Amino acid sequence: MEASSYHTPVLLNEVLAYLITRTDGVYVDGTLGGGGHAEAVLNRIGPDARLIGIDADEDAILSAGRRLAPFSSRVTLIQSYASELNAILERTGVSSVSGILLDLGVSSHQFDAIERGFSFRADERLDMRMDRRQELSAATVLNTYDEAQLAQILWEYGEEKHSRRLAKLIVQRRLQRPLGTTGDLAALVEQVAGPKHRIKSLARVFQAIRIEVNDELSRLKRVLADGIAVLAPGGRLVVIAYHSLEDRIVKETFRSASASRVRSGHPLLPDTPLTPTLRVLTTKPVEPSETEIESNPRARSAKLRAAERI
Ligand SMILES: C[S@@+](CC[C@H](N)C(=O)[O-])C[C@H]1O[C@@H](n2cnc3c(N)ncnc32)[C@H](O)[C@@H]1O
Repeated sequence: MEASSYHTPVLLNEVLAYLITRTDGVYVDGTLGGGGHAEAVLNRIGPDARLIGIDADEDAILSAGRRLAPFSSRVTLIQSYASELNAILERTGVSSVSGILLDLGVSSHQFDAIERGFSFRADERLDMRMDRRQELSAATVLNTYDEAQLAQILWEYGEEKHSRRLAKLIVQRRLQRPLGTTGDLAALVEQVAGPKHRIKSLARVFQAIRIEVNDELSRLKRVLADGIAVLAPGGRLVVIAYHSLEDRIVKETFRSASASRVRSGHPLLPDTPLTPTLRVLTTKPVEPSETEIESNPRARSAKLRAAERI
């Protein structure tokens, strides 16, 4: 897989401006992808700095490895979920870091690689695993979860309004024959959504199943909590989210880590003081310009939030 099948890094200048506070620190790219952001970071930081690049996907590690080869003495690449940050840093002998970048979701490479089953635009095996060493795949979710679990996932992770009907159809359909391909799933979505809302429903349903397969939201919560804890004072956490479920988690985590008190909610009871660990640098999320979206449509839904460790 060539690095060229990964597209331009999203919000690149903004990422560099928020992330890099010193040129001799340790930086973590927790969602390495094709290594576009990582390469730009390495070009900015000095010869004494180090970058730890993490991705759950082996293709990304291989592709980024080729791209980052000129920096190999300063780079450590690890195939893992970023939620394993603590264990990874312990293994690499790092106790605190200057910056952590998370550019969430799937890469354009993963969407376009037909055999990965992330896209409804091709009829492929129902896979959707970022880490192909794990057992749980889209096929397992769709063929073994019960109807209530499926409805819940479609509703919570896809905000799909036909969640109950679709869950029922999936269970009826698999009694005849297990769902095997993305086309099998797409055909059922089309039955409930109607032609006008077809594409939106397909996107929502595929997103929901993908989030479940990769346990994306729990993993995000974990890497944010552990990431804040390992940042050195003045270190930065920069996160790009592509849908509201992820962005809400980032916003809430930043808000509670930067709060200086917990409101009692009662007029006679005092608020409880807290020691904040973060200072939020983006009161509103930073979004790409029209020009960036035109040249890189993948950037369309991106929302960047950044915070600094106190
Ligand atoms: C949007 S792409 C990153 C693109 C990258 N910033 C670049 O410049 O090429 C997201 C990548 O993060 C990986 N990923 C998503 N969530 C992850 C997680 N929790 N842990 C590790 N990798 C993750 C995906 O496998 C994918 O390769």
